Amino acid sequence: MVNSETQRLAWAITGSGHYLRESLAVLATLDNVDIFLSKAASEIIKQYGFQVQLDATGHRVYQDKTASSVPVELFYEGKYHTLVIAPATSNTIAKMAYGFSDSLVTNLFAQAGKTRVASIVFACDTAPELESEAPRDNVVKVYPRKIDLENVAKLADFEATQVVADIAALTHAIHVRLNEIRN
Ligand SMILES: Cc1cc2nc3c(=O)[nH]c(=O)nc-3n(C[C@H](O)[C@H](O)[C@H](O)COP(=O)(O)O)c2cc1C
Repeated sequence: MVNSETQRLAWAITGSGHYLRESLAVLATLDNVDIFLSKAASEIIKQYGFQVQLDATGHRVYQDKTASSVPVELFYEGKYHTLVIAPATSNTIAKMAYGFSDSLVTNLFAQAGKTRVASIVFACDTAPELESEAPRDNVVKVYPRKIDLENVAKLADFEATQVVADIAALTHAIHVRLNEIRN
């Protein structure tokens, strides 16, 4: 049962440079959010110089520091109405698509599924060819492999999971979800 008065949005960030800047910008526009970082995300945020943007969101940040992913308890307590994973690396997508839960972010996804909390996943490897942001404002051409694209498609078939492919679709999906839980 969703309660918009007390429940919050959980937002997980993985170690993707692709769309990290844009995801942080969306995060800055939202209230009642807790952020969860993969170990790689903590490194990449520093590498790209985005720690200031993360801090400026004002949201509480949970790090991946325990083997059992202790913050996942918050899902059992019903603290969240929705899980957003953005941006999602091909690594995390692959693990989630095959049911792994061996890191904070993959555990959040598994526990959201098992407690029937809706997930919105912004998969970055969504086209056979794309341009990706590298550190120091460089842009690199990336060619996601067949397996990366297959894993995204597999994940899109999961129950209570919406996979989005660009920042406009991510923003739209979040706003639709927030409207749903308010009504
Ligand atoms: C500078 C840099 C940028 C990266 N950008 C991406 C990316 O855009 N997409 C991706 O799938 N992996 C990217 N990676 C690789 C991931 O960080 C790496 O696979 C990591 O193990 C992912 O862990 P996580 O899925 O637990 O966050 C990048 C790594 C570095 C060093």
